[in-house]
Amino acid sequence: MDIKNPLVLQNKDRYLDELFTFLRIPSVSANPDHNPDVRSAAEYVSSRLKEVGVANPEICETAGHPIVYGEILVGANLPTVLVYGHYDVQPPDPLDLWDSPPFEPVIKVTSIHPDGAIFARGSCDDKGQVYMHIKAMEVLNSQGTLPCNVKFLIEGEEEVGSNNLEQFVRSYKEKLKCDVILISDTSMIANDTPSITSGLRGLAYLEVEVVGPNRDLHSGVYGGAVDNPVNVLCEMIASMKNEKMEITIPGFYDKVKLVNAAERTEMARRPFDEKAYLSALDIASTRGETGYSIIEQTSIRPTLDVNGIWGGYTGAGAKTVLPSKASAKISMRLVPDQDPDEIAELFTKHFVSIAPPTVKVKVTPHHGGQPAVTDINSEGFRAAAMAMEETFGKKPIPTREGGSIPIVALFQDVLEAPTVLMGFGLDSDALHSPNENYGVFNFLKGIETIPLFYKYYSEIRNGKHS
Ligand code: BES
Ligand code: MN
Ligand code: MN
Repeated sequence: MDIKNPLVLQNKDRYLDELFTFLRIPSVSANPDHNPDVRSAAEYVSSRLKEVGVANPEICETAGHPIVYGEILVGANLPTVLVYGHYDVQPPDPLDLWDSPPFEPVIKVTSIHPDGAIFARGSCDDKGQVYMHIKAMEVLNSQGTLPCNVKFLIEGEEEVGSNNLEQFVRSYKEKLKCDVILISDTSMIANDTPSITSGLRGLAYLEVEVVGPNRDLHSGVYGGAVDNPVNVLCEMIASMKNEKMEITIPGFYDKVKLVNAAERTEMARRPFDEKAYLSALDIASTRGETGYSIIEQTSIRPTLDVNGIWGGYTGAGAKTVLPSKASAKISMRLVPDQDPDEIAELFTKHFVSIAPPTVKVKVTPHHGGQPAVTDINSEGFRAAAMAMEETFGKKPIPTREGGSIPIVALFQDVLEAPTVLMGFGLDSDALHSPNENYGVFNFLKGIETIPLFYKYYSEIRNGKHS
């Protein structure tokens, strides 16, 4: 395994043991049954932070799950890095599709991770990546003095929209004051192709309900005359994309900032193996918006997807019923400068307008998030690029990614500091899916790279490397 830092190699087994303890805590933020577990994960983060030099880590209460905050301040005239991450995880369902239980981490060798991968919910997203930061601090402590101040903000509601973090950031703006925000919660292109994320999509999420007759009906007695809400919902959803796979909601694209040709050419240089992509997903082909590559379709273009749909009879066997209701959860990934509230409103107006008079519809918005782009010429980005180049032996490529981290735009707004998205996961790590995993190589590489970020960042701030 290509890890050079002897300290990291020496302590590797202990790092993994500690991470395993963290991963065994089922901190599923979406499910209130897990509230006590979410809290124990916060406590775990807090006590591990204390061990690496955070004097008084705080578990800050919110209207939802707690936020862990801690700082190591070494000099008023040194730059300050705010490390953000999340200790909550997605629900592990469907459980029967996991090869080993989601909260009993195990290391297994895979074709992508020949040095082994840690299989557990949260291994990559984001407990494994948060834990790299804690262990990187341990490495720094034993190597000498810290070249900058570090603040840790590790939250427990990222997977449910970071609703209470916004209030926290606004209230504690002074305390969180920093020169740069460092986040490891994104992917790289491949283990031999390092990259740094330069943009994330936003999100608008809604739930819709279509109601027809006042009760479920016999589909023989009424079928043919009474409109079927499940059929209607399907038609409505289908009409929201045209044959070019463009979204038909009026005004949907109005604020989309087009990416210029030069940047698109640059993006197309990123290595991408379409055959391998298709075969890894066991699909014959993709079907995205006409005129854009797969990379573009999943990063710089907005989407509309049904996340779940239900209604009528779904039990065993057959039941001849004409259901009274149908529902769906629908999300739209957004790109700069689309605004989640505006898009939710456009969606709602459109959805109501296309409903036939035979049904009533209800639209309920869920959480959303702003899209974000980061400055690839910032001091932080350059520091991350130098750190990765040193540990990977290759210059990282800037990449726009399709996922969302809702708080990034708010950080840039309220804290007025640039964000650096230096993630070490891979898209194939099955985030949010069964068998989520994180390469042992990636975990250790992160621990090795992060201390160099601090080093180069403080050097750049001191006028070196210009
Ligand atoms: N870490 C992910 C986001 C991500 C994954 C960005 C891979 C880039 C590459 C994050 O935890 C996440 O899943 N975010 C949610 C946000 C939502 C719940 C508001 C998402 O993207 O669905
Ligand atoms: Mn995440
Ligand atoms: Mn996630």
